[in-house]
Amino acid sequence: MAATTHRYLLLIFLAAVSSLLLVESGDTNHIYRPCSDTTVQRSDGFTFAIAFASRTAFFYKNNSSLQLSPCDSRLSLSSQNSQISVFRPKVDEISLLTINTSSSSPDNYGGYMVAFAGRKYAARSLPAFVANSTYTVTSFTLVLEFKKGRLQNLYWKRDGCTRCTGNNNFVCLNNQDCAIRTSNCKNHGGSVDCSLGIQLAFSGTDKHLAVLNSWYEVENLRQYSLFGLYSNLRNSLTSQYNKIF
Ligand SMILES: *[C@@H]1O[C@H](CO)[C@@H](O)[C@H](O)[C@H]1NC(C)=O
Ligand SMILES: *[C@@H]1O[C@H](CO)[C@@H](O)[C@H](O)[C@H]1NC(C)=O
Ligand SMILES: *[C@@H]1O[C@H](CO)[C@@H](O)[C@H](O)[C@H]1NC(C)=O
Ligand SMILES: *[C@@H]1O[C@H](CO)[C@@H](O)[C@H](O)[C@H]1NC(C)=O
Repeated sequence: MAATTHRYLLLIFLAAVSSLLLVESGDTNHIYRPCSDTTVQRSDGFTFAIAFASRTAFFYKNNSSLQLSPCDSRLSLSSQNSQISVFRPKVDEISLLTINTSSSSPDNYGGYMVAFAGRKYAARSLPAFVANSTYTVTSFTLVLEFKKGRLQNLYWKRDGCTRCTGNNNFVCLNNQDCAIRTSNCKNHGGSVDCSLGIQLAFSGTDKHLAVLNSWYEVENLRQYSLFGLYSNLRNSLTSQYNKIF
């Protein structure tokens, strides 16, 4: 699976951004490994990773109440059927991560994913269902929550299938995820590019206690047409379903 990051600047923020550029501080975070600890400030890059594996692979000795970070060697993810994608988005920038699944399919790697970073201060999301032989979910929103610049939590934000309600090409799984039939995916002989789109947002505070509010922006922009600018690429990943069926 190939991973890329796309970044968008929204017009509405250009005024704020241009004043920031005058004091452009660049990337001061020199930690590039997802399994190391760091604290960040706005405009730093931040490295985290997403592991694909079976749901049980994320739990210590299959104990469903003890989910460990993939950085924890007790999990021995590397000896299991798993795959890891590493990303380095800019802190507090709205980003869309894409994971190209044309050559390998998430259901071949257990079908669940966990986002994670840190070692002593390990943070990880809950496992999110991506795909099995019947259904594939392609669109996600991940929130990275920081406190004084240290990652505290990663969580998947769901919108309760609002985007696919009434669309026969999608099935709403567990009242939270819009899924399509895996047999329609290119990597299973179908015609849809089932690459994953993961919209990122940041919340909390950086190490100077500056408030990270890209999450706030994503939430609020949903109601304005400007959001359309940003969601173009995400839509290019999802709108194809409407054309094809
Ligand atoms: C966990 O469960 C899976 C499937 O139920 C099994 O194959 C595996 O051996 C178990 N692992 C441990 C450490 O018990
Ligand atoms: C699972 O882990 C919890 C918390 O560590 C522990 O209380 C419980 O006994 C464990 N269950 C099993 C079946 O090992
Ligand atoms: C994924 O990769 C394939 C082959 O390189 C390409 O044809 C396709 O457009 C890519 N999909 C996305 C969403 O980038
Ligand atoms: C695939 O996942 C869905 C939703 O979690 C579940 O209802 C279904 O039974 C699964 N199918 C297979 C073949 O595992």
